[in-house]
Amino acid sequence: MPDKVVLAYSGGLDTSVAIKWLKEKYNLDVIALTIDVGNEPDFSVIRQKALKVGAVKALVTDAKELFVNYFIFPALQADAVYEGQYPLASALSRPLMAKLLVDAAMEEGASAVAHGCTGKGNDQVRFEVSINALSPELKIIAPAREWGMTREETINYAQRYGIPVPATAASPYSIDENLWGRSIECGVLEDPWVESPEEVFTWTRSPNEAPNLPGYVEIGFDKGIPVTIDDQEMGGVSLIQHLNELAGSHGVGRIDHLENRLVGIKSREIYEAPAAAVLLQAHQALEAMTLSKDQLRFKQRVAVEYADLIYNGLWFTSLHQDLAAYVKSSQRFVTGTVRLKLFKGSCRVVGRKSPKSLYSYGLATYDKGDIFDQSAAPGFIHIWGLPVITQAQVQGISSVEES
Ligand code: ARG
Repeated sequence: MPDKVVLAYSGGLDTSVAIKWLKEKYNLDVIALTIDVGNEPDFSVIRQKALKVGAVKALVTDAKELFVNYFIFPALQADAVYEGQYPLASALSRPLMAKLLVDAAMEEGASAVAHGCTGKGNDQVRFEVSINALSPELKIIAPAREWGMTREETINYAQRYGIPVPATAASPYSIDENLWGRSIECGVLEDPWVESPEEVFTWTRSPNEAPNLPGYVEIGFDKGIPVTIDDQEMGGVSLIQHLNELAGSHGVGRIDHLENRLVGIKSREIYEAPAAAVLLQAHQALEAMTLSKDQLRFKQRVAVEYADLIYNGLWFTSLHQDLAAYVKSSQRFVTGTVRLKLFKGSCRVVGRKSPKSLYSYGLATYDKGDIFDQSAAPGFIHIWGLPVITQAQVQGISSVEES
């Protein structure tokens, strides 16, 4: 009996060809595993296709809840955004897929797992580092990195073996999508000077064509987790789906990022992430109200580390566990509601409230009801300014050239 391999199967050209190729090249029986992270409306078609192309078994796993609860929401609580731009949709899905691949390999008694990544991207790293961390003895095969075929040759291979070539194979773009966002690269986007054509966007309406009246949305958080929209309780998956549609219809969530890949390449990627854009902004607004100045500053540093760690494929590490524990602790009072205004591509916070708010009206107001003791200010200023005065008197306030 041939050995078995579990392949992460998307239904696209590369992974379909991989089913055949793994049999030809390695004589492996392929078990196709398709993971639903909110990217497809109909998985039965993909399942059928895997079997038709030659998989001995085709599994479909609905991982949307897992993805939201264990990956997206912790990343939201951390405010994880790579290089200040990318909410990490693709990056966050890989460790989850790696875990499900490893689990399936155990259950099916497979000696290997396979993925469809090329040798130039981040995703191969994320998959393989995660798989190795979870199960070092599993063999990993990356057909698209090994076979050395161009796009055209891959299409020819598919035609030769009667593998249906999806219509999307004609598209110049490489697309990856899940609940947290859509990533688009290749084609004209490889020229960083060229504005992304309207055709690359499918989740967001062009801001030009967005409604002429703003939309308002209120998001309620419980300990840093979004739980209501306009006072209605919603599960995480539906909440994100709802916001993707609402914010997308106002043209919110388009990102044009020239990013630094882990493998040393700068690449230009377009993202659509309407729900992520809204939720990250809302969450940060609530933190601004419920965390102290020092907590906010420290947490921003953690956010950068957290985002890098996700981007760089280091999900299954102790550093991640340590940071996650800090992030979770930081969220214990991040409860309240944020109101946002969506209008022609922009998303702005226009109101926030919290039962644990550190904003004190009595301290802030200039009207009556002011409880701030202004007579204490001169003493504060005197002591605060002491080192400044001392230094100015001894060393003067000279510019670099003069000293
Ligand atoms: N650049 C993003 C990342 O490394 C997205 C990768 C997948 N993009 C794609 N268009 N297939 O996380």
